[in-house]
Amino acid sequence: MSVTTPPPTQTEQSDRNSTAPSALLGEESSIWFKLSPLTKGGENPMNVLQQMTQRYGGVIPIRMQSTRIFILSEPEHFKHVLVSKLGKYIKYFDGLKPIFGKAMITVDGEPWQKIRAPQQPAFHPDMFAEYVPFFIAAIDEKMAQWEKLAISGEPVEMVEQTWTLAADMICKALFNRDMPFDPHFVFKCVKTYTDVLNHKEIRAKKKTGELFEVTEEDAAKAMEEWAAVPLAVMDAEQRDAREKTLLSMIQEKVADEDAPEFDAQQAVDEIKQYLWAGTETTALTLAWALYLTSRHPEASERIRREGEEVYGDRAPTAADYSGLAYTRAVIQETMRLYPPIWALIRTCDEEDEIDGKKIMPGDQVMLFSYGAHHSEKFWTDPEKFDPERFMGERMKKRVKYSYLPLGGGRRSCIGGAMSQLENTLALSLLLRRFRPEYVGNEPPGINATVTLTPKGGLHFKIHERD
Ligand code: HEM
Repeated sequence: MSVTTPPPTQTEQSDRNSTAPSALLGEESSIWFKLSPLTKGGENPMNVLQQMTQRYGGVIPIRMQSTRIFILSEPEHFKHVLVSKLGKYIKYFDGLKPIFGKAMITVDGEPWQKIRAPQQPAFHPDMFAEYVPFFIAAIDEKMAQWEKLAISGEPVEMVEQTWTLAADMICKALFNRDMPFDPHFVFKCVKTYTDVLNHKEIRAKKKTGELFEVTEEDAAKAMEEWAAVPLAVMDAEQRDAREKTLLSMIQEKVADEDAPEFDAQQAVDEIKQYLWAGTETTALTLAWALYLTSRHPEASERIRREGEEVYGDRAPTAADYSGLAYTRAVIQETMRLYPPIWALIRTCDEEDEIDGKKIMPGDQVMLFSYGAHHSEKFWTDPEKFDPERFMGERMKKRVKYSYLPLGGGRRSCIGGAMSQLENTLALSLLLRRFRPEYVGNEPPGINATVTLTPKGGLHFKIHERD
């Protein structure tokens, strides 16, 4: 990779000095480690949590090591934490500091407002028309790679494919850069760090002297490479002459003496955040959507026909998006069945009560959105792939807060609407030209770490359509 490694940030440096092993392979005290007895095991670890919510109800207190965690699975309680009593709960990001630094996604209160407000305009739907040609340029580059894969017959892992596409879309549209790093390499670095469950296993194997694939040193090296990526983005040449981009808005803020909270390190951390939060989630959604449409050829055919009717042989524009209603519904149904962020975590900051249970400062609450997405209480035949739930009258009947792939309240995803546009265009264009054939295990196993990922990846062969 053609990037140089910058000195670690203060936070990263103090993490490394204070808790040597934790700083390298995820923090033992983090909730992802604590929850691992519940989320590890079986082909779908979500089933254990799902059964618990069916048996013990919507507010389940459990003790993991020294922490009390409340598992919430009722939409009214999601609203309570995210909207009505927002001030009593704070964001929780232990164990992910090297990924995000002190970016917007990790902070609360006034500092959060000051960081989010200047970046918000970049995600306004008015910007989408400007972004679409950049999304299409990235999709075209991916299609050129798939053309070769279709000829060679070489199998591919789809999350890596969609991750590299999503990273390219963000670099081009939001940063006005062609990716100034090797995305396959960066993908692997990030995975090395965030696959927290593996870390636990690695440590256990280390104790018993067994062999393991990734070492603590590998994880540290991976995070050094990751820390170098934002600088590579800032140093790279601009792609086009554009007046304003998200990157230029961030850089303006750094230069603004009246915004001391937005220093140079903040800019680095914001870029890191977008390359993770905007890439990992978008990529997982598209990869799962390609898996689902491969298992449901009738959906794939309908997507292809819709593209033909809406934009035909020309490149799609932002104005075509509303016409791609079925394709968009497939993306939404994918995020219901496989929400990339399967739970939202908060720490209680002020005493509260939910459903008669006292929540004390320091307790953690886990909003189990996957559970609500798969509950018969809110969805008819919840395990069925049925994109039309998200169309017309049926969509209007949805129970509020029963569908939270993008979070809720003021802390909901800043890039949610944009990611649906990216994925709708990508799914439409890829399926018009190609027939990706899923060749992995059926059903694919699930890994519930920070995100909901397919165990061992999603393996495909790419074919050109006849
Ligand atoms: C399918 C794609 C996506 C999914 C499923 C997703 C999911 C989420 C969720 C669930 C949250 C809230 C987390 C919480 O409340 O704890 C969130 C926040 C966030 N997302 Fe996304 N996201 C997606 C795409 C994007 C994109 C494309 C970007 C930007 C390029 C982005 C940037 C962010 C940021 C910066 C936040 C923090 C917002 C704040 O704290 O104010 N996400 N996302």
